[in-house]
Amino acid sequence: MLEQYTLKMPHAVYAGKGALANVKDITAQNAKKIAVFADQGIIGAGLLEAPLNYIKEAGVAYELISDLAAEPTCDQAQDVVDEFRNKGCDFIVAVGGGSVMDTAKLCSILATDEYQVRDLLDNPKLAKKCVKSLMIPTTAGTGAEATPNAIVAVPEKELKVGIVNDEMIPDYVILDGEMIKKLPRKIAASTGIDAMAHAIECFTSNKANPFSDTFALKAFDLIINNIEAACDDKTADDARNNMLIAAFYAGVAITASGTTAVHALSYPLGGKYHIPHGVSNAIMLAPVMKFNEPVVREKFAAAYDRVNHNGDASLSVEEKSAWVLDRMCSIIKHLDIPTSLKEYGVSKDDLDFLVTAGMDVQRLLVNNMRKVTAEDARALYLEIL
Ligand SMILES: NC(=O)c1ccc[n+]([C@@H]2O[C@H](COP(=O)([O-])OP(=O)(O)OC[C@H]3O[C@@H](n4cnc5c(N)ncnc54)[C@H](O)[C@@H]3O)[C@@H](O)[C@H]2O)c1
Ligand SMILES: [Zn+2]
Repeated sequence: MLEQYTLKMPHAVYAGKGALANVKDITAQNAKKIAVFADQGIIGAGLLEAPLNYIKEAGVAYELISDLAAEPTCDQAQDVVDEFRNKGCDFIVAVGGGSVMDTAKLCSILATDEYQVRDLLDNPKLAKKCVKSLMIPTTAGTGAEATPNAIVAVPEKELKVGIVNDEMIPDYVILDGEMIKKLPRKIAASTGIDAMAHAIECFTSNKANPFSDTFALKAFDLIINNIEAACDDKTADDARNNMLIAAFYAGVAITASGTTAVHALSYPLGGKYHIPHGVSNAIMLAPVMKFNEPVVREKFAAAYDRVNHNGDASLSVEEKSAWVLDRMCSIIKHLDIPTSLKEYGVSKDDLDFLVTAGMDVQRLLVNNMRKVTAEDARALYLEIL
């Protein structure tokens, strides 16, 4: 008998050249008063101007919520929720990376004062959607515009925690390459590797299924073939649109499947040492994928067939798998992303903490096809120290 799989996605997604113009109709049809979320980086880059002009054209009132922290703690997110509650808005437009979108997503289910962010750490399913949302990602990216997740740091645990609640899946998404055109190369690179990690982790996850495979493989194909041009070539508009679509697909794959040991073991790196999410995943990616390779070899070979449109069909499974590993490592090297924790001041004295905190992320470790023991985690962290 066919097993059951579920695919949960936003209600409508608009992508490609000029897609941003849809802000006008979406807001005109859904909103009386909009809360527009952005952080100072987005405002500084001039990325808010165009969406605000469309909202003005739609004739809808709006309030700006822009005092947002990067990779917020649960208490910083709560401060924004409190501000949002006071504004009396009935629709959310979030313009930004994962930090802005996650904060806005929490607001979408916490508009009444019944529950607080901290209530959701232990019981994430408590809250229901109160306010619909439109997400406009400016990194490519977390895929937060597709997922039911909001990630917050919990200072007393020195860990990042994923709050997962289907009610947070955004309602509308706009993927417009113009929004990532001026993304600094360093951020484009690390956030692009985050999307690559989402794709390959979901494809090699114990939770992988036909739905997640469809999105994960297409995302992986698009990323392997576009990430370098998107980061290096200011004229590569198609590559940037492809990266936005890929990051979204990888987010859909997360919703249908789940990430694995790369994300699990990188959580303490963000939580305690404040290494940006994309960078910490880029650092963990190669060691974990090499560790997994013997168990996921067939999957890597399938990924080879998918991304090499004129690939060599005569290669063995081992050769195809090795190619995929090498290609991921060479992309990380080409994009000049750190591959060690040394420059972040992490030392061998931190190993015990890293192992304990990393092993605590069982929510994702159980998805890893090769079982990760505490000894394995120690060896993996040692490789990057
Ligand atoms: N919800 C999910 O499913 C999910 C998945 C992965 C990661 N995350 C979370 O998302 C957060 C990271 O998000 P991120 O990697 O997108 O980075 P980010 O949102 O933290 O942004 C990083 C920096 O880049 C700036 N920036 C963003 N877009 C820009 C642009 N187009 N031009 C110039 N500057 C720009 C921002 O102002 C910020 O200073 C982390 O908290 C992570 O845990 C969430
Ligand atoms: Zn991620």
